[in-house]
Parts: sequence; structure tokens; C-alpha cells
Amino acid sequence: MKVTVVGAGAVGASCAEYIAIKDFASEVVLLDIKEGYAEGKAMDLMQTASLNGFDTTITGVTNDYSQTANSDICVITSGIPRKPGMTREELIGINAGIVKTVSSNLIEHSPNAIIIVVSNPMDTMTYLVHKSTGLPKNRIIGMGGALDSARFKYRLAEALGAPISDVDGMVIGGHSDTGMVPLTSHATRNSVRVSEFLSEERLEQVAADTKVGGATLTKLLGTSAWYAPGAAVSGLVQAIACDQKKMFPCSTLLEGEYGLEDICIGVPVILGKNGIEKIVDIPLSDAEKAHMQSSAEGVRKTNGLLEF
Ligand code: 2OP
Repeated sequence: MKVTVVGAGAVGASCAEYIAIKDFASEVVLLDIKEGYAEGKAMDLMQTASLNGFDTTITGVTNDYSQTANSDICVITSGIPRKPGMTREELIGINAGIVKTVSSNLIEHSPNAIIIVVSNPMDTMTYLVHKSTGLPKNRIIGMGGALDSARFKYRLAEALGAPISDVDGMVIGGHSDTGMVPLTSHATRNSVRVSEFLSEERLEQVAADTKVGGATLTKLLGTSAWYAPGAAVSGLVQAIACDQKKMFPCSTLLEGEYGLEDICIGVPVILGKNGIEKIVDIPLSDAEKAHMQSSAEGVRKTNGLLEF
């Protein structure tokens, strides 16, 4: 199993690190345009192999896509991250051109690869990869919901005073400060709805904190987060590589599901060796349906800024 990660910045390097630590891939190629940067990150990570106990080989390359040839899975993290006060949508001008070029280079050398899009604005970048590569929809996956759900579980556990392993919950919708739809009515603590433990006001606060999860970290760190994004990507990569048939919320092209067409947005999907093997259409409350529709309007507005 060969995995390429494009972009050796904090998010890309963190993806490579978590994939290697889980030790299911034979090879990870880390590619960056900055001379020597991916090589340096790869070497540093390889020097953790004996300490962390993995046999995955991590190789760094400077913009040489021939080294990525025949990858099974390619992760696109390239582009600029947001700075404090910026929305993900503001990155579209620079990132759209980068993601278009990167995806075309990847497909040239790995025509059968499954692509995972991390670059922001993520739902629009996922849609752009669809439009520009024409790959089948099961092979293009946007990473946002898995990360947002991890942040939701963190906030739920904090509010409940419970260990995170006791908590389950999911965030669907767009990967943006206003677009996320945390499914508080479906969230549980060891199979019991969290509404049995938390007031409506507290749950609203949990949802609000989840939606600005990335922005909160960007303010604290001065740039966007990397540990949880990297860990979330590694979970998706592992589900595909090991044919796990696990369910994650991911951005995928909808064709009528959730009443939406011609848009990439976060919904629950089953991930296995073919990428997205099924879209799971779950029943939503009227409020969640309305929230999903307004989230889709926001994503469409950003998609409208794309030039093909
Ligand atoms: C985040 O929310 C990188 O968009 C990503 O941290």
C-alpha cells in the first residue's frame, strides 16, 4: 500500500506521521514544492521509526511526481492555511489553482488512486477535484467531517465530564464556521442520548464551540491546527487501505441524497477499499434539515467563485 501526501507543512507531516505510526502502509511519499523541505521532514520522521515501532518507509521529494507513481491513496494538503480572523472560504483564490495542478499531476502518475482532499475551503476543493479530474465519485473524498466530529466529541466529553471513549457523535454539512451541522440529537453517551445529561442551552454551546473549533485553534496557534487534522486523515486512509467498511462523515458528491444535487458536502459514508462505498442517508429533524440546506447554500456560494 503506497500513500502520497502532498504538502509537507504541519498538516501534511502530521498525516504522514499518524499513517506511519499506525503501521498499515508499506510506503508514504511526502511531496512539497519547497526544495529539501519534504526530504527533511521525511528524514526526521524516519528517525522516529525505531522509537515509535513502525516499518512504514517515508520518503520526501521536491515536486517530483514521478516518485508518487502508482500510489493507492493520495492526500492533498497543499495550499495556504488560514491566519487568525480569516475564514476558510477566503483561501479559495490561491488554493484553487494549487489543488487543480496537484490533482492533475497526481492522476497522471497514479491513475487509479483514491484522492483525499484536505486543502481549504475543503468542500469546494473536493468539488473542484471532481470537475477537473472527472474521476468516479467514490474515489474523491473530502476530509472535514471526521475532524469536526472529533472536535464535537471532545466538546461533548468536556460538557459531560465523561471520558471521550464514552461519547459518540457526528458533524455533517460544510466544513466551515457556519456550515457545520453537529447532530446533537443523535449524540450519545454509551448509547444514552446526551440530552438526558445536558440541558438544551449546554448542548447549543457544545455545538457552537464545535463549529468554531478550527477558528479557536487558529487564534491560539497563529495558523491552522495540525494534530487532529492529521489524525483524522490517517483514520480515513486506514479505513480504505484495510477495507474496514467504517462510517465517517466525509465530503462527497451528492446526487439527490439529503435532497441535494451537484455539490460536495459532509454526509456519513462507508469507507472501504473502493473509497466511498456507500452514502448513508440518515433521517434528520426539521431543524437539522434546515441547517443542512443553509450549509449547502454557503458551499454553493463558494463553489460559484471557482473558474474551470
Ligand atoms: C481545520 O479545521 C485544517 O480546516 C482544518 O483545522
